[in-house]
Amino acid sequence: MSPSRHVDVARLWRRHMEMAAIGALSRGGVNRPALSPLDADARRRLVGWGRALGLEPFQDTMGNLFLRRAGDEPGAAPVMTGSHLDTQPTGGKFDGTYGVLAGLEALEAMNEAGRRTRRPIVLVAWTNEEGARFQPGCAGSAAFAGHAPMDRLLAAVDRAGVSVDTALADVLASQPDLPVLPPGFPVHAYVEAHIEQGPRLENEGRTVGVVTGIQGARWFAVEVGGVEAHAGTTPMAVRRDALWGAVNMVRALRELMHDPTDVVRFNVGRFEVGPGSPNTVPGRVFFTIDFRHPDAATLVRLGDAVAAVCRREAEACGVTVAVTETSNTPPVDFDAGVVSRIAAAADRLGLPRLDMPSGAGHDARHLAALCPTGMIFVPCEKGISHNEAENATPDHLAAGTKVLADVLADLADG
Ligand code: GLV
Ligand code: MN
Ligand code: MN
Repeated sequence: MSPSRHVDVARLWRRHMEMAAIGALSRGGVNRPALSPLDADARRRLVGWGRALGLEPFQDTMGNLFLRRAGDEPGAAPVMTGSHLDTQPTGGKFDGTYGVLAGLEALEAMNEAGRRTRRPIVLVAWTNEEGARFQPGCAGSAAFAGHAPMDRLLAAVDRAGVSVDTALADVLASQPDLPVLPPGFPVHAYVEAHIEQGPRLENEGRTVGVVTGIQGARWFAVEVGGVEAHAGTTPMAVRRDALWGAVNMVRALRELMHDPTDVVRFNVGRFEVGPGSPNTVPGRVFFTIDFRHPDAATLVRLGDAVAAVCRREAEACGVTVAVTETSNTPPVDFDAGVVSRIAAAADRLGLPRLDMPSGAGHDARHLAALCPTGMIFVPCEKGISHNEAENATPDHLAAGTKVLADVLADLADG
């Protein structure tokens, strides 16, 4: 009995719309920062839906939220699926939420199909995937995999100076009846569903992306120091202007990252000028760098040049600079066995598929070090994501969920 036959397109869509109301923005998007009261609301909603299906909820000390469907062999390592409920500040309704709700729908479909499995299946909502409020992102899965020290993740602060530790305490306290375990337990296999966040599936008329791996990413935080001075009186020649230093650094970095083949990805997504007064020469600039590439050697070569380029430009402008690497994740190849199961499930369901790497980062990259891992993509409109206009069709969401349901059931009997 294949659970995919019980995937309910209307129910899956309705849950997306209900989740999207938590943190809804005026242009159709969602702002649900990691570990905010809205994130806590979304988690409570998920636990309510999960309990109605007979799932058993629990959390870990990094705030990762798990919902467990029992297997016939309770001691067997579970199969896991899920994604994240936090969003970008001007995020969409589907990035992350889809992977969580597809997992929930897959488990509901299994219940309705009367499909038992040998292994338990655990649905997960990872803490702070986006890295928008606190850096680094994928913090929950990194802690689960032991890829980042908990004390460093907990000490990260947002722009208001609130730490992960403090925000997390409130989120954990909002569901006091859930058990809280230390992060990490054996996992048999992990499969994450996600919208593609790029245009390839739509352009090529395919319904399912069989994800072969994830490109590598290095993130940096750059702090530029100058000297505050009176804008009307201080001669230009003697200024130590942190903004001019930072602007020159960004321009030089763009040159460093220039790639005629358009494979390099380089973004300065946050740029803060202090003290932020029109008539004071800036004494401080803070900016972030998100640099990605599928090739490990290129990631090392260009990433390692970032600090030297910043120092060269700082010296030329008479300002200081401190470059901190906030995360470094190498490219990941997914497990050939999981990838081929996903492809086979799509073929059995008659869904046109494309084998493709992921340009976006996902929690699956940390899980890939722990257990056989794969991902399922579905198209999103015009490839738009990290934007309020992000959109996907109910049928595409359901198609990816059908593949997920069959693959999970299959893996959980292995
Ligand atoms: C995840 O949102 C990423 O930045 O790739
Ligand atoms: Mn995501
Ligand atoms: Mn995202």
